[in-house]
Amino acid sequence: MDSIDELYFVEKNCFGDPWTKEMLESEISNKLSVLETETKNGILCGYALGRVVADEAELFKIAVLPDFRRQGVAEKLLTKIHGQMRQKGAFVCFLEVRSRNMPAVLLYEKAGYQRVRVIPGYYGDDDAVVLRREL
Ligand SMILES: CC(C)(COP(=O)(O)OP(=O)(O)OC[C@H]1O[C@@H](n2cnc3c(N)ncnc32)[C@H](O)[C@@H]1OP(=O)(O)O)[C@@H](O)C(=O)NCCC(=O)NCCS
Repeated sequence: MDSIDELYFVEKNCFGDPWTKEMLESEISNKLSVLETETKNGILCGYALGRVVADEAELFKIAVLPDFRRQGVAEKLLTKIHGQMRQKGAFVCFLEVRSRNMPAVLLYEKAGYQRVRVIPGYYGDDDAVVLRREL
């Protein structure tokens, strides 16, 4: 298990509204939780976190430290977490993304996610796009 401090370091450096260490710890200790991490040169540089409930999965977060971006780390994390979701019995994965988060929107589209609907004002300052991908 990677240390919660390393995960929190990535979280803090990737999101304007990061989860607290306690939130991360609590989510990861849930038995429905799925987590994948990527380490380069001994540094935990990215992670993906979600849940599997019955035959459906949800991806909550994916994050890669700025110095490690555009090197395929997120694509690798998605491949690994999709595999783990499948193993735990999920056939489909859903997620919500800010409509203006272009790196993330393009990442998910490249990984085969398709648009389900838009939820106007979901984030207050931005709409949410709900995406889905068969596993
Ligand atoms: C989104 C994020 C996880 C992408 O991580 P990454 O490791 O740089 O992504 P990858 O290198 O695997 O990129 C895969 C594809 O995603 C798309 N992409 C990723 N970053 C992009 C960018 N800055 N601009 C345009 N397309 C981008 C491209 O299609 C890319 O494929 P390509 O390099 O062949 O063009 C990273 O930018 C990040 O941590 N952002 C902050 C946290 C966040 O917003 N997470 C998503 C919401 S939870």
